[in-house]
Amino acid sequence: MEHNSAIGVFDSGVGGLTVVREIMRQLPNENVVYFGDTARVPYGSKSKQTVLKYSRQIIRFLMTKNVKAIVVACNTASALALPELRPEISVPIIGVVRPGAKMAVSLTETKNIGVIGTEATVKSGIYTRYIRELTKEVTVVSKACPLFVPLVEEGLLEDRITDDMVDRYLSEMKAYNVDSLVLGCTHYPLITNAIKRYMGENVKLINPAYETTKELKNMMREEGILNQDSAPAVYEFYASDGADKFTTFADRVLPMHVDKVNIVDIESY
Ligand code: DGL
Repeated sequence: MEHNSAIGVFDSGVGGLTVVREIMRQLPNENVVYFGDTARVPYGSKSKQTVLKYSRQIIRFLMTKNVKAIVVACNTASALALPELRPEISVPIIGVVRPGAKMAVSLTETKNIGVIGTEATVKSGIYTRYIRELTKEVTVVSKACPLFVPLVEEGLLEDRITDDMVDRYLSEMKAYNVDSLVLGCTHYPLITNAIKRYMGENVKLINPAYETTKELKNMMREEGILNQDSAPAVYEFYASDGADKFTTFADRVLPMHVDKVNIVDIESY
């Protein structure tokens, strides 16, 4: 492992590219290897055992790329698998849930925090737990929004169907008068506009990618593994299925054109 080894980033699909976008902003000279488990998405309706098995396979794959750190760019995997994964691997690893919880606590003024995520993330109660570890003085309202993921994967970012689903899922949340809403699934920042339109300008939408990347940078600095090279960063993209759909999507999310996605037989890892 070298200073210029890549950071490994993974998600159940393309949503984790919102985290890669943030890494490109805050850590512009770090190389990145991204894996999206597009053949097995969604993780949000699967059991802990399954998500753990999938995450282990992906980490074994990323380790073959000699990564120096791993970002679990999936709230579901961060919620269900990260605690078990951490002691199993030899490189620093970070998830998106704890940083998202921290950001929510620092931004709320009314002490009413909303959290939206997949069924598995919400059911795990992990956001509420982490938020409460930081302060007892808040109310946390959570809601699973399972259909947001396929809407995003289908690219329906600005669409009447998405607006209808936002209305259906978030009406209760709106009634609770939350002033901060954690987008607790890496797909959701892509429908920020639809959520903002519905919740109103006064509700702060929290994308955990920002704080996660900040913490990643600190962690890498402490470990002495920040890339010192000034060569342009190299980005490699891997998925378990659907290369064409992946590239179309990546072009919408990233500030660069992705011309190649390598398909990996992830079951063999
Ligand atoms: N992107 C994943 C997350 O952040 C959710 C998508 C899925 O259900 O697989 O939780």
